[in-house]
Amino acid sequence: MLCLGIETSCDETAVALVRGGKLLGQKLATQIDVHAVFGGVVPEIASREHLRVLPVLYRELLAETGVQPQDIDVVSVARGPGLLGALLVGVSFAKALSVACNARLVGVNHLWGHLLAPGLEQELTFPALGLLVSGGHTHTYRIDSPTQFELLGRTLDDAAGEAFDKVAKLLNFPYPGGKFIDQLGKGVEPDTKLFPRAFIDTPSLDFSFSGLKTAVANHIQAHPELILDEMGDISSFMKMPVERREAISKVCASFNWSVADTLRIKVERALKQAGRMESLVVAGGVAANSMVRQTMQDLADTRKLSLILPGLHLCTDNASMIAYAGELFAGQGYCHTLDLEAIPRGRVVPLDWHVCEE
Ligand code: KG4
Ligand code: ZN
Repeated sequence: MLCLGIETSCDETAVALVRGGKLLGQKLATQIDVHAVFGGVVPEIASREHLRVLPVLYRELLAETGVQPQDIDVVSVARGPGLLGALLVGVSFAKALSVACNARLVGVNHLWGHLLAPGLEQELTFPALGLLVSGGHTHTYRIDSPTQFELLGRTLDDAAGEAFDKVAKLLNFPYPGGKFIDQLGKGVEPDTKLFPRAFIDTPSLDFSFSGLKTAVANHIQAHPELILDEMGDISSFMKMPVERREAISKVCASFNWSVADTLRIKVERALKQAGRMESLVVAGGVAANSMVRQTMQDLADTRKLSLILPGLHLCTDNASMIAYAGELFAGQGYCHTLDLEAIPRGRVVPLDWHVCEE
């Protein structure tokens, strides 16, 4: 089965081809530079960029892989959650292509796509406890198969990646700033008393990161020397006196620790409640974070669970995960019809697939 995946849910336009669970090729265009001047994604601009770039990437992917449109058996598309206008570009493109190529249409939950992504590189084992940590979401799931996810916990306010990006913005780091906090805090001993681990003193599996963000904001306000001199210019860090650099690195490491340790506490709690698990899957952009990866590795080792982590290139948004998930769905006989809806962030993605007609 040859499956084309399409991803346009936020600020990455991407297409990929997967056959038999193996990646044949992929193309990705990031809009980070377009949005960086605004310090965050501007939805209207994102949609226009997807519309401009998607057909170009599709043509290039087919040319590079030697695939003809009529070879495509399944067109799989991220149908939400995400920015509605951005999703509509990908969903409309996928619908048209599925008709033109006489291919099946599969709408993929973007969050499930993230959690299934490591299956491109290693075997997935179920039941699995899934932790999805991205720019828009922080969710834990019990996953019984590629098509059976039960939501256990979610963030009540900011997502983990959003907290990284907001703290980075306060420090004048470039957008999106999560990876710079990771880099500057690496190898530095965190001060575990500096920032709180929010919402851990309740039995709830839900997360809350807005209090942590406010605590960091207050600390930065009291220590303005932590802020980079030039907005968005990370190279100005190297020009600072060593004491200022050390203080910034300490804040990065301590904030990073508060997030990673909060995730550990909630995942441990979810593991206790969810029953016997074969594996722990950690996915999404924040799964690229070195402290989060190490913390989850230690947790999995302690509990003798296998840890399934996507390679770094599969953590942030991409179309390979959408193509892979689409092929799994179609392989189980599921597909969508042309009334497939795009689902904006905040709405539950419905389980509305059909059994495909041959
Ligand atoms: O999954 P993703 O690409 O997009 C969404 O679906 O939201 O995640 C993007 C998020 C951003 O908030 C970005 O700052 C964060 O992932 N991120 C990181 C790292 N790399 C990306 N956060 C912390 N450490 C990193 N190394
Ligand atoms: Zn994502």
